[in-house]
Amino acid sequence: MKEVIITKYGAPSVLQVREKRNPNPREDEVLVRNHFTGVNFSEIMARMRLYPGAPKPPTTLGAEACGIIESVGKNVTRHKPGDKVMLFCKYNSYSTHICSDEQLVIPLPEKFSMEEGAAFPLVYVTAYMMMFDLGNFRKGETILIHGAGGGVGTAAIQLAQAVEGNIIGTASQWKHAKLKEMGVQNCIDYNSEDVYKRVMEFTGNRGVDLIIDPVGGKNWKISYKCLSKMGKLIIYGDQSFVKGKTFSFITTMKEVFSMPKYRPMDLMSKNKSIMGYHLGRLAGEEDKIQRAVLALSQLVQEGKLSPVIDKIFPFTEADKAHEYIQNRKNFGKVLIDFREE
Ligand SMILES: NC(=O)c1ccc[n+]([C@@H]2O[C@H](COP(=O)([O-])OP(=O)(O)OC[C@H]3O[C@@H](n4cnc5c(N)ncnc54)[C@H](OP(=O)(O)O)[C@@H]3O)[C@@H](O)[C@H]2O)c1
Repeated sequence: MKEVIITKYGAPSVLQVREKRNPNPREDEVLVRNHFTGVNFSEIMARMRLYPGAPKPPTTLGAEACGIIESVGKNVTRHKPGDKVMLFCKYNSYSTHICSDEQLVIPLPEKFSMEEGAAFPLVYVTAYMMMFDLGNFRKGETILIHGAGGGVGTAAIQLAQAVEGNIIGTASQWKHAKLKEMGVQNCIDYNSEDVYKRVMEFTGNRGVDLIIDPVGGKNWKISYKCLSKMGKLIIYGDQSFVKGKTFSFITTMKEVFSMPKYRPMDLMSKNKSIMGYHLGRLAGEEDKIQRAVLALSQLVQEGKLSPVIDKIFPFTEADKAHEYIQNRKNFGKVLIDFREE
C-alpha cells in the first residue's frame, strides 16, 4: 500500500509518499481499498503544527474517505467485502488502504459517486450538528455562514436551503457569483468589507439568528455583534492562525491575544448565545453523530444535498492539494485520488 505522510511540520512540500505493508483489519474493523480522500482545513493546520491533538510527524493524516471494502474482521456484522462505503477516519485517510472501526463506516448512498462520498461525511455532519442540534435553525431564519465557499460552507448552504432559511455568506470576492448561483441571497467579502455594517444593512438592523464561524480571532468579536436577540454564534475553527505556509510563533501569539473575552452577564442581558462544536472531540456521543447521519441520509434521498467538488489531485500531488486550499483557490471540496497504486 501507499500512504501520504507529513515527514515533519512545515510547508506543503513535507507531504511525501511512503510504501507500507498492507494492513489486516482487527476483529471490529473493515479494510477499505480507498478511492478518494476529502481534504480538510484541519490537515493544513496539523501539517503546520497548529492543530492540538493531531499525531506528531512522521504521520499520515485524513478524516474522511470513500472506497470499497476488501475484507472484514470476524466481529463485523454491518458490512461485507464489495460494499461501497464512505467513512470517518482518525488521521489515516491519506492512504490507499484504510483499516477502520465499523462504527465509522457508512454505506455509500446509491445517488452518490465515489467522489461525492469522499466529500460528504465530515463537512455535512459538522454543518448539520451545528445548525440543527446546536443552532436550532428553522424556516425563515437567517444564517451568516463564514467561509461560505469552502467545504463546510457549501454543505451549510445546502442545509439552510433544505429548511428554507435565508443565507448571508462571507467569502473571497471571486466566489460571490458562484455563491449566488447556489442560492446565497447576500455575499460579503470579509477580506475587504465591513461585515457588521453589511449584515445590518441586509437584515434591516436586526442581525442574524445563527452564525457559524471558523475564522476566529477578531472575527468572533464581529460575529457576536452581528447576532439578533436570541441569536447564536457557533465557534468551530480558527483559520486566522494560518498565515504563510509554516508555523510562526509571533502570528500565533498575536492570534491568541486578539481573541475576545465574553462576559456571562452580557450574554444574558443581550439575549445572545455562544457555543462551540468539535466533531473530533465527540467520543462517547456517537449516537448523536449517528442521528445526524440518518437525518442527512434522508435529505440525500430527497435529492436536497449534493457535495460541491472543486478539484481532484493524484496522491503523488497531495502537496499541491494543500497549496490550492491554502491559496484560497477552492470552491467546495478538494479531493485526493488514491485509486492508482
Ligand atoms: N470543529 C469541527 O468539528 C470542524 C469540522 C470540520 C471543519 N472544521 C473547520 O471548518 C473550517 C472550514 O473547513 P473546510 O475543511 O471546509 O475548509 P475550507 O472552508 O474549504 O477552507 C479553505 C477556505 O478557507 C478560507 N480561509 C479563511 N482563512 C484562511 C486562511 N488563513 N488561509 C487559507 N484559507 C482561508 C478560504 O476561503 P475564502 O478565501 O473564501 O475566505 C479558503 O478557500 C476550518 O477552520 C476547519 O478546521 C471544524
